[in-house]
Amino acid sequence: ESGAITLDPGYKNTGACESAITFLDGEEGILRYRGYSIEELAEKADFLEVAYLLIFGELPNASQLQKFNTDILDQSIVNEDMKTVLKGFPETAHPMGVLSSLTSALTAFNPKSVNVDSEEDMYRAIVKILAKFPVLAAWTLRKKNGQTLYNKDTNLGYVESLLKMMFQDDNPKRNYKQNKVVVNALDKLLILHADHEQNCSTSTVRIVGSSHAGLFASISAGVSALWGPLHGGANQAVIEMLEEIKADGGDTSKFIEKAKDKDDPFRLMGFGHRVYKNFDPRAKIIKKAADEVLGQLGVDDPILEIAKGLEKAALEDQYFIDRKLYPNVDFYSGIIYRAMGIPTEMFTVMFAVGRLPGWIAQWREMRLNKEPIGRPRQVYIGETKRSFKSIENR
Ligand code: SDX
Repeated sequence: ESGAITLDPGYKNTGACESAITFLDGEEGILRYRGYSIEELAEKADFLEVAYLLIFGELPNASQLQKFNTDILDQSIVNEDMKTVLKGFPETAHPMGVLSSLTSALTAFNPKSVNVDSEEDMYRAIVKILAKFPVLAAWTLRKKNGQTLYNKDTNLGYVESLLKMMFQDDNPKRNYKQNKVVVNALDKLLILHADHEQNCSTSTVRIVGSSHAGLFASISAGVSALWGPLHGGANQAVIEMLEEIKADGGDTSKFIEKAKDKDDPFRLMGFGHRVYKNFDPRAKIIKKAADEVLGQLGVDDPILEIAKGLEKAALEDQYFIDRKLYPNVDFYSGIIYRAMGIPTEMFTVMFAVGRLPGWIAQWREMRLNKEPIGRPRQVYIGETKRSFKSIENR
């Protein structure tokens, strides 16, 4: 029986599906969304355009983008009763746990969103989650007082309204002042995070969605998978690691040695990738953006220099060279979020906001392709048949 099954832990060599959304070439460091290079999109597109491209397959024309934006704004109010769910969390709750719970709770207030048999129903569910997810993301930052600001400013863009909801203080008179540098940098970061073929969280969204659980439940599962420090949670772990190196006097070699020590669970966070074996094209763009944004914001953050020193030391170290370990998307992104005033525990929430269109696109493709329910097999290595023993004989 087990002869028929090929074991592939972590699915390192398994193609789970055919997909037309994102193309990665790990050797050449190529990343394309629907055929467009990430370098071009990061430079010339905005996040909502890229979301539309990923989900529907083409760059929107002006009227399509306008309608998409309007449809999203029309859905950006979240049911007041959701605040009861929010208020139930302790101060100490990690924003990613709050976000996955609130995202799943959306189904309770939008029960019809589970049925996506018609294209119209599917579009409605997609617009709802695109509209409400950033609100919930902002709520996780504001859970302290449960105060929230919906995006009522219809002339604000998607990223501007996210920033406003996150940073507008509770006195509406003190209007949050948009900073063009921050808006552009966040827009670019969200584009760079928008999709990445069958990574852990996207595979989670696809497999949960393959049982025909609703879109919101599938996205909630993706948020939970992204939370892990080996995946999206790495962007928070990188900053914590850089802070530790700084507090320890800035000696990166000590941490490199720790990361190489098999008996030490410590890994160099933000380094390595399952697919990219030369460099992560996103890390290159984000590293350049970190210098630009911190310069434009007049922020002089010593951990940027520590990060660059750590990268240089690791790239010269045989252990990292042998294992083709390079900085990944998470290595420099946190330094930019920090310069924007985003708290460290919110970094993975920002990753989730960026990855949302990719999760939606991949879920939609899986449903439109009528893919079978995901149900892998195993190689059984447990006990052979044995008879029950009564408790007296155990
Ligand atoms: C993301 O998949 C995606 O596309 C993810 C992502 C996306 O956009 O969705 O790109 C986003 O999650 C980026 C990765 C963020 N995670 C981290 O930065 C955490 C640190 N990195 C590692 O945990 C690791 O590199 C992974 C998880 C990213 C990849 O793990 P793999 O492919 O399973 O590789 P592995 O764990 O088998 O490591 C291979 C070797 C091992 O050494 P040996 O046993 O062969 O001697 O490399 C070593 C590992 O010990 N290694 C590291 C290391 N990463 C791998 N050693 C020290 N530090 C590291 N960071």
